Amino acid sequence: TKKVILDCDPGHDDAFAIMLAVQHLDVLGITTIGGNCTLENVTRNAIKVLEVLGAADRIGVYPGHSRPLVAPLVTAPQFHGETGLDGPVLPEPTHAPQNKHAVDFIVDTVMSTDDVTLIATGPLTNIASALNREPRIADRVKEICIMGGSVTFGNWTPAAEFNIYVDPEAAYRVFHSGIHVKMAGVNLTRQCCLRTEQVVEFRKIGTKAANLAADLTEFFIGTSASAAALAGANMHDACAAAWIVNPALITAVPMHIDVELHGALTRGMTVCDYRHLRGSNPAVDLERTPTMSVRGEQPNAEGALELDFPGFMNLLYRTLRDYR
Ligand code: BDR
Ligand code: CA
Repeated sequence: TKKVILDCDPGHDDAFAIMLAVQHLDVLGITTIGGNCTLENVTRNAIKVLEVLGAADRIGVYPGHSRPLVAPLVTAPQFHGETGLDGPVLPEPTHAPQNKHAVDFIVDTVMSTDDVTLIATGPLTNIASALNREPRIADRVKEICIMGGSVTFGNWTPAAEFNIYVDPEAAYRVFHSGIHVKMAGVNLTRQCCLRTEQVVEFRKIGTKAANLAADLTEFFIGTSASAAALAGANMHDACAAAWIVNPALITAVPMHIDVELHGALTRGMTVCDYRHLRGSNPAVDLERTPTMSVRGEQPNAEGALELDFPGFMNLLYRTLRDYR
């Protein structure tokens, strides 16, 4: 099993990333970051989810930064509610967060453990901060798989996806770190759209984890409709975890990705150089074989283009069934 640290801001879709990671990966720890909601709330939410999964005794939750490096914190109550995880009624957690700071946990773990994969499903503040604290972690980690950015359109603004928009400076640090980045951007995660049909299946499965999944999805379908007129709930963060669990679920191509920090309309945009691909727009005209040599800088990332949604749902159903 792959060793991972999951950095997140639960968040309905972050909760799904936790469910997938805890069952299929060796989760060394969960670190939290202010994003969807305050640091205090997302930390409490992470512990609540672990308690439902019966994993809170063995997996510690390490609180990280409460705000972005430079920008003020932006949260997303219109999608995730006032607690950051509205919908399911969960008991107050009985486990406490760890005393160690997320950044210290990331640095110490990566320096002492080979081949750690980072999965990041919130703003990249903790990861950037860890890179600044101990730059050698860039050569030590295996790779980082993020939910964030986009090869095409944004969601928070026309150009920018929420996680990158919230802390563009941190994202810039990560994309320029030399760590290989797997980017599950919103162009991919829009393909992961859960509707009532999936909620019905979760209810049939009936485990505690599946009921949590159903309650989360029901709430998230509602806010996705009211806040963004979406036809269902996009389980963005689950795609990043699923990519590490089963890489075959996602089609991605190497490309150079940078982060726009200054644009009046484009701050927080991931600028993806895919001029070497045959199609003019890989999300629309998918041609998987690079035909030309790279015209700009060498690829520092893989941009995800296509999700095997039925395969993803099979993995998710199986996962929820196996939590007993
Ligand atoms: C991302 O923003 C957050 O609201 C979600 O949890 C996800 O990580 C999608 O843009
Ligand atoms: Ca998230």
